[in-house]
Amino acid sequence: GLGVSNLLKDTGLVTVDPGFMNTASCSSAITYIDGDLGILRYRGYPIEQLAEHSTFLEVAYLLIHGELPSADELMAFNNRVARHMHVHEGIKSFLNSFPREAQPMAVLSGAVSALSTFYPESVGRGEYEIELATVQLLAKTAVVVAYLQRRVTGGELIQPRPGGLYVDEFLRIAFSGQDGELDIDPTVRRALDLLLILHADHEQNCSTSTVRIVGSSQANIYAAVSAGIGALSGPLHGGANEAALKMFDQIKESGDTVEQFVAKVKDRAEGARLMGFGHRVYKSYDPRGTVVKRIADQVLDQLGGNNETFDMAKRLEEIALSDDYFVERKLYPNVDFYTGLVYSAMKFPVPMFTPLFALGRMPGWIANFREMMDDPRTKIGRPRQIYTGSVERDYTAMEER
Ligand code: ACO
Repeated sequence: GLGVSNLLKDTGLVTVDPGFMNTASCSSAITYIDGDLGILRYRGYPIEQLAEHSTFLEVAYLLIHGELPSADELMAFNNRVARHMHVHEGIKSFLNSFPREAQPMAVLSGAVSALSTFYPESVGRGEYEIELATVQLLAKTAVVVAYLQRRVTGGELIQPRPGGLYVDEFLRIAFSGQDGELDIDPTVRRALDLLLILHADHEQNCSTSTVRIVGSSQANIYAAVSAGIGALSGPLHGGANEAALKMFDQIKESGDTVEQFVAKVKDRAEGARLMGFGHRVYKSYDPRGTVVKRIADQVLDQLGGNNETFDMAKRLEEIALSDDYFVERKLYPNVDFYTGLVYSAMKFPVPMFTPLFALGRMPGWIANFREMMDDPRTKIGRPRQIYTGSVERDYTAMEER
C-alpha cells in the first residue's frame, strides 16, 4: 500500500517535532533503554553485568560487532588496538600548535577530523577501511585525550609503549612525569575501565544522532565522529558532570544548607537546577547512576577523595528523592551526578571530564555509524521545516529602504 512517507508527500503534510521528542530516526539493534523501568542493555546484556564483569575494549567489541568476543578474538582485538596507539608526529605538532589553555573539546574535534588526512588508507566505506578506521579511532583517540591532559599539565607528548594495554597506556601518558614512568593504582585502573563502559553507548542521543546524520551524506567516519564531539561539548549533553561538581562547590561556598539549596531549586530562585538530576528518557533511577554511586564509595574510600563533598551529594540526593517536587516530576540522579566526584578523586583536572566522556562514547559512535552505513534503508538525513518568513516580495532599491 501507500507508505506513510508517500502519503505525507502526496498530501503536503509534514510533522513538526522540535527536539525529536517523538521521532525515531532509525531502527537499531545496538542499545536498548526502558526509561520507566531504568533499564539499559548493550546488545541485550544488562549494563550492571557488563560493569561488573567486562572491560572497556570487550564492550567496544560487543557494541561494534554485536557479540561478545571469544578469548582469542578479544586478545587479537586488544593487540590490534595497542599496535595502532602510536600517533603520527604530525598529529603531535598539530596538538602542540594550540595554546595550552585551549578548550580541549575543540582540539579533540579538530584532531579526530585531522586523523583522516594522516591515515588516508583508512578512509572509505569498504570492509578493510572501516575495520582499520574503527581501530584507529579507538586507539588514537585514547592517546590524543591523554595528550590533552599532558598539554594542560605542561608535559611533553610521549609516545605509547609498544604492546601496552589500552587503559594502562592511557593512564601512563596522561599522568606520568617526564620520565614516562607511572605506578598504576589498580583502583584507578578499574574505575576508569568502568566509567568508560558506562558511557560507551546510549542509543540516539544528541552526539550519536549527529554522527549518523553526518555519515548519511557519505562523509567519512572521522568527519562524522568529529561532529559528534562538537555535539557532546555542549553543557546540556557532555558537560553535566562538570556542572554537578561546580554546583557542590557553590553550595559549600554559599554557606547554605543542603535543605536551603533544595528549597531554592524548588522556588526556581536564581534559575537554580539540581545539576546531574533529571533525564529526557529515564523517569526512574538512571541505572548507570547506581553503578557510579557504588564505585564512588570505593574510590573515595581508597583514594581519599573529597568525602565531605560526597556526603553532601548523598544528602542532596536523599532530600530530593523524598520531596514531592522531584517525586512528581520523576527527577532522579543521572549518570553525571557522581562522576565528577570520581574523576576528581582519580586526580583528573576538571577540563578533562568531557573529553573522558568522548573517549567512552567512541564505541557507540562507531557502532552506530557502521549500522547506519550497512542499513539499505539509510537515506541522507534531511528534515523538513515549516516556513514562517515573509511572503514573496520585490527587491527594494537601496535608496528606498
Ligand atoms: N532540577 C530541578 N527541576 C528540574 C530538573 C532539575 N535538574 N530537571 C527537570 N526539572 C523540572 C523542570 O523544571 C520541569 O518542571 P515543570 O514541568 O514544573 O516546568 C520538569 O522537571 C520537566 O523538565 P524538562 O526540562 O522539561 O525535561 P527535559 O526532558 O527537557 O530535560 C534535562 C532533561 C535537560 C536532563 C533536565 O532534566 C536538566 O536540565 N537536568 C540538569 C542537567 C543535567 O543533569 N543534564 C545531564 C543529562 S544526562 C547526560 O547527558 C549524560
